[in-house]
Amino acid sequence: MREWALTKLKREWTERIRTVLLDLAREKGLLLDEVGLVAQRPPSSQFGDVAFPLFGFAKVFRTAPQKIAEEVVARLLPEGAVRKIEGAGGYVNLFLDREAFALSVLSDIAHAGPGYGAGTLHQDKRIMVEFSCPNTNKPLHLGHMRNNILGESVSRILASQGADVLKVNLINDRGIHICKSMLAYKKFGEGKTPEEVGKKPDHFVGDFYVKFNEWAKTDSTAEEQARRMLRAWEDGDAEVRALWEKMNRWAIEGIEQTYRRTGISFDKIYYESDTYLLGRDLVLKGLEDGVFYQEEDGSVWVDLSEIGLDKKVLLRSDGTSLYLTQDLGTAVARYQDWAFDLLIYVVASEQNYHFRVLFYVLEKLGFSWAKNLYHLSYGMVNLPEGKMKSREGTVVDADDLLDRLVEMAREEIREKGRVDEVEDIDRTAEAIALGALHYFLLQVSPNKDMIFNPKESLSLTGNTGPYLQYMGARICSMERKADPSLGVPVEEVPTAELVDDASWELIVLLSQFPEVVESAAREYNPSLVIGFLYELGKTFSSFYHDNPIITHPNKDTARARLALARGIRQVLENGFRLVNIPFLEKM
Ligand code: ARG
Repeated sequence: MREWALTKLKREWTERIRTVLLDLAREKGLLLDEVGLVAQRPPSSQFGDVAFPLFGFAKVFRTAPQKIAEEVVARLLPEGAVRKIEGAGGYVNLFLDREAFALSVLSDIAHAGPGYGAGTLHQDKRIMVEFSCPNTNKPLHLGHMRNNILGESVSRILASQGADVLKVNLINDRGIHICKSMLAYKKFGEGKTPEEVGKKPDHFVGDFYVKFNEWAKTDSTAEEQARRMLRAWEDGDAEVRALWEKMNRWAIEGIEQTYRRTGISFDKIYYESDTYLLGRDLVLKGLEDGVFYQEEDGSVWVDLSEIGLDKKVLLRSDGTSLYLTQDLGTAVARYQDWAFDLLIYVVASEQNYHFRVLFYVLEKLGFSWAKNLYHLSYGMVNLPEGKMKSREGTVVDADDLLDRLVEMAREEIREKGRVDEVEDIDRTAEAIALGALHYFLLQVSPNKDMIFNPKESLSLTGNTGPYLQYMGARICSMERKADPSLGVPVEEVPTAELVDDASWELIVLLSQFPEVVESAAREYNPSLVIGFLYELGKTFSSFYHDNPIITHPNKDTARARLALARGIRQVLENGFRLVNIPFLEKM
């Protein structure tokens, strides 16, 4: 793969400076084995464009860092995209040749196109990412939207760093919750189907779950009936199984519609009805090996005092299955299916305890890969109105929310009189709604709780998805309008026209994109990509406000600025893809 301009520059100069430091040390008879040199971005352009702090070397050299910087600089000559080298305040500062560097950055982008920003951080690593994991008794809610976009985006970011990513889902299609929907359907459903009543199938199933809870308030036998149904299911009762299959099919079909609508997909789907009995043998084996202990009633426990926790039951005395035990078995099965180097579980912070215990127990059982399990824990998401509650049926439904966002976006397009400009208003409103939702949900670091504000998320002027989508569309419109004579092959772009401070700021930002993606991949944190895209959009917006681009009277200036705008459009597109925000050519 191509080495991007900034990466290459930093690598080459780190190498050069390291060699000089080693020479200096040798000449002075000093021992210098660990040379930690890290390139930084100086706080102000008066200190150049790339800086190497030398404070860490003061001890070995027994000299002030500034003195070392001067000695290093005396032995270096400007070369390539570096036009000046200075030692100041204990740093070696590199000043770039703006014209040359701009050309390399723009050529990187033009040549790599959609591949610009890719890296090798996770080259050939097999990474399984588990996310979404809905229950089949009700449709997706706002919390799933945060989960889904995190899982999808992290997967894309990891793949862009060379990882072989397997996106997996674990659908909870079994248990008392689905029996409740089934029971209510039997009592109140009159054998109808979602098509007959014109409802999205997962909503159809979810409505019966709500009905069950209403009914259970008036009939004290309801809960017992549901438990009886679950036992019948476990005994393989043909009628119960048939109803179960039918209702699950509806629920899953509806949930998959929402996945398709939001651009989410999976490579493999696990079902809890297949996995819920896994893990039992593991626990029994652990008991045999003395890793766990048994109580008098026959239940099996793990002692968690080593990790500062109490104890936890792994097998109940009545033999019924447990969430944790299932997850033990599922993890082992997954490793057998696809030996991963890393398995990331995208699950809400409510389950922090569960995953701590899960990982600990797997380690205790002696699985060497247990250290490669990671819980990507994310915080709560609410609407400004207040908390989400599911039992009363007042949860923030994902489809309703999407519909509402789409309606608001459509309204906005009409109000702004842009119906003709956008051509397909339905498609555009849908894309804006997704851009608004995904951007807003990813903007906050995963571990933090957040409030999703629909109105704010759609704003065209703030730090939002639609604002950036609009910026992208404006550049596309400019590209369409530009006189053909302004489009030149990237090698011929007169980058001498891009050396002013405002253009340079944009070039520097473009050059940093690959590093940002790499950091996001290292930290499993798409908010870094979002933050970068906003910075780029905002900086371009003020540039565009102050500087004519395709209308500039000097053809060379217009050419160079158009090439710059094109580079920005490409990086916006590439960034959008990583965070699953639709790019719009017209808006
Ligand atoms: N279905 C579960 C829930 O709704 C989440 C499952 C998370 N994944 C796992 N492997 N435990 O709470």
